Amino acid sequence: AADGLLDRYGRRATDMRLSLTDKCNLRCTYCMPAEGLDWLAKDKVLSGAEIIRLVGIGVDVLGVRELRLTGGEPLVRADLVDIVAGIRANHPGLPISLTTNGLGLDKKAQALRDAGLTRINVSLDSLHPDTFAQLTRRPFLARVLAGVEEAARVGLGLIKINAVLMRGINDVEAPDLLEWAVSHGFELRFIEQMPLDADHGWTRDGMITAAEIRGRLERDFVLTPDPRQRDGAPAERWEVRRRAEPETVAGTVGIIASVTEPFCADCRRTRITAEGSVRSCLFSHEETDLRELLRSPGVGDAEVAARWQDAMWGKPKAHGMDHTGLGDADYVQPDRTMSAIGG
Ligand code: GTP
Ligand code: 5AD
Ligand code: SF4
Repeated sequence: AADGLLDRYGRRATDMRLSLTDKCNLRCTYCMPAEGLDWLAKDKVLSGAEIIRLVGIGVDVLGVRELRLTGGEPLVRADLVDIVAGIRANHPGLPISLTTNGLGLDKKAQALRDAGLTRINVSLDSLHPDTFAQLTRRPFLARVLAGVEEAARVGLGLIKINAVLMRGINDVEAPDLLEWAVSHGFELRFIEQMPLDADHGWTRDGMITAAEIRGRLERDFVLTPDPRQRDGAPAERWEVRRRAEPETVAGTVGIIASVTEPFCADCRRTRITAEGSVRSCLFSHEETDLRELLRSPGVGDAEVAARWQDAMWGKPKAHGMDHTGLGDADYVQPDRTMSAIGG
């Protein structure tokens, strides 16, 4: 275990992304089918105690330095606050962040902060109720905005907002989303749509590329490279100045160009699915079950750690989507959707 979560290409995973549930209360078109998915049976999903133990193995044995809780939608788990508190009790200095769609955050933000959550990222693709409803298939924009507002009010760190732009739907909104985010002190990130949707509706031409996003923003804003270190993060960050006010840095915007400007070579992520399997990569075709070991009496942490290490050793070098032949060459879409993998 001295080597931590090393893979055969020399990358070391120190950033743990743990999915708490496969369920979600939205149906974003780029993620879930309208009818939802067959949710996992309750006994297949890791319990709070199993999650807390697994995080302990990651942090204490395998060199994990950062934890992100994802879903599905993590706020649908009734024991979310207890899970955060339990992890925090064992790891006082660990950054713990949450990626959420924001539904219910208005009620939980204070408790999450008190339990020791460090930061949150909220997915929000549109500020127009109709567009929001079209993209998520649910009419809940006002509730998400209330959640973001409450998270800011209770001081949940720097709030990041994730937006996926869809051609002909919310792509024209990019500058308005950015203006809204910078004026509230949020860090907006635009995400290239990845082929991880249930309906297999992704097309290269349909995707709004990072270059196109920058082009759209540059009509209203001046973007200059953010001097801070990228540190293996998915987002490439830019300082934002309004064209009308070119002297003042208004904020920061991130662009997550998974498809056209991939960052696999610097990846530091290890993923655990809601049912307790290691996914070495968002685009893996294999998963390695840890749940059975966690539930076997007499199996110690060292054995669980060793299996996790084995799984990460096989991490693919890259997703292969950047090759020109997507669709007919290197890239095969995983069976799992984004919601089932956990972002
Ligand atoms: P922070 O910047 O530290 O807040 O974290 P983050 O950006 O990693 O977290 P978040 O869960 O908000 O992820 C944002 C998006 O980044 C995800 O929805 C994915 O689109 C993308 N992303 C995260 N990890 C990976 C990865 O390993 N590979 C790829 N291709 N995309 C990723
Ligand atoms: N491509 C890119 N991002 C996606 N997300 C969900 N599905 C996709 C996809 N197919 C984003 C959500 C959320 C984050 C966890 O993942 O918008 O912000
Ligand atoms: Fe739910 Fe997130 Fe998928 Fe939207 S992208 S359906 S909020 S898991």
